[in-house]
Amino acid sequence: MTRQDEVLVALRRIIRATDQNSKRLGRDTGLTVPQIVLMRAIATNPGSTAGFLTGQVSLSQATVSTILDRLEERGLVTRQRNPRDKRVVNVALTDAGRALLEQAPAPLQESFRARFEMLPGNQRELIVQALDTVATMMGAGNLDAAPILTLGNIPEQLPSPASLATLRPPTADDGPALHALVRACPPLDENSRYCNLLQCTHFADTAVVAEHDGRLVGAITGYRLPARPDTLFVWQVATHPDARGHGLGKRMLAHLLARESLQDIKHLETTVTAGNAPSAALFDAFARSHDCGVTRTPLFDRERHLGNSQDSEWLLHIGPLSRSEGAMPPIAVCR
Ligand SMILES: CC(C)(COP(=O)(O)OP(=O)(O)OC[C@H]1O[C@@H](n2cnc3c(N)ncnc32)[C@H](O)[C@@H]1OP(=O)(O)O)[C@@H](O)C(=O)NCCC(=O)NCCS
Repeated sequence: MTRQDEVLVALRRIIRATDQNSKRLGRDTGLTVPQIVLMRAIATNPGSTAGFLTGQVSLSQATVSTILDRLEERGLVTRQRNPRDKRVVNVALTDAGRALLEQAPAPLQESFRARFEMLPGNQRELIVQALDTVATMMGAGNLDAAPILTLGNIPEQLPSPASLATLRPPTADDGPALHALVRACPPLDENSRYCNLLQCTHFADTAVVAEHDGRLVGAITGYRLPARPDTLFVWQVATHPDARGHGLGKRMLAHLLARESLQDIKHLETTVTAGNAPSAALFDAFARSHDCGVTRTPLFDRERHLGNSQDSEWLLHIGPLSRSEGAMPPIAVCR
């Protein structure tokens, strides 16, 4: 075996050991390596803040917060406001969290750390330099990575309700849940329950709901403009606050446009208020993915049409939509 092959074999062994350890942890505890690493840090520092834990595990604040959300959902950690200073939130393991951690195998990196510490200083230095050179030679010198041995992108290992949601046309049975979802998503207008039922039945072809764990986490309602049937008018888009910022809005729009029955849609229209930045960003992103521009024109005026009860609505026109393969998001991601 050549020297190069020896290096490649060693690298492959490291990758396989990392993979096997992650799988074993997942099988035995249902947890990912980053989750276990964070739980171990909480066990060592009970009652500490999320900010402190971020420093302990060398992950970003957003990633730690996502991991804590998942652990809290599973009843393994608690986040409690500090009675002396309400701005501070303290994190601790629950009894169930402690019990699970006790029976969990240690992550691979912990035994590595212990053995590494036992090496003489010059040998440690050589290992750091050699591995750094190998990483650079493999074009990975500038990749952002946390000191946690697991394969894949850490936030991607923590599926959000948005990424797990199943997308489908609504039925009449979704009417009450759609009503509740819209109510949870201000500034959306609450329509009557009867109106929601019509959206879910007569307009099911041009509507989509996103369901996760038996609850609606997102929905789009819409219809073809009667005078211009090749234009889809998006009536409302709602992503539940728990599922925002994970691409669900974009997934739902892509899902609708990928439907067999909507292949003749050439334009999309909707209305937005001037201050609704998330909505504007969603439709801008949609226009970019379909290689076309967005025009904005005033449509319903606050004083003249809306009785001063809500902000003026601007008409967004997006189109003509490019339906080329490159422009459409792959249907496989639109479950
Ligand atoms: C608007 C709304 C549907 C967006 O849903 P979402 O699932 O979080 O959106 P996505 O994650 O798919 O993000 C779509 C784009 O908007 C951007 N975006 C999302 N939230 C944002 C925010 N708060 N501020 C700025 N941009 C935002 C994303 O970065 C993404 O753009 P990118 O592809 O350029 O990165 C959601 O915020 C919502 O339900 N709001 C309340 C109801 C509402 O106002 N609906 C729209 C009017 S009908």
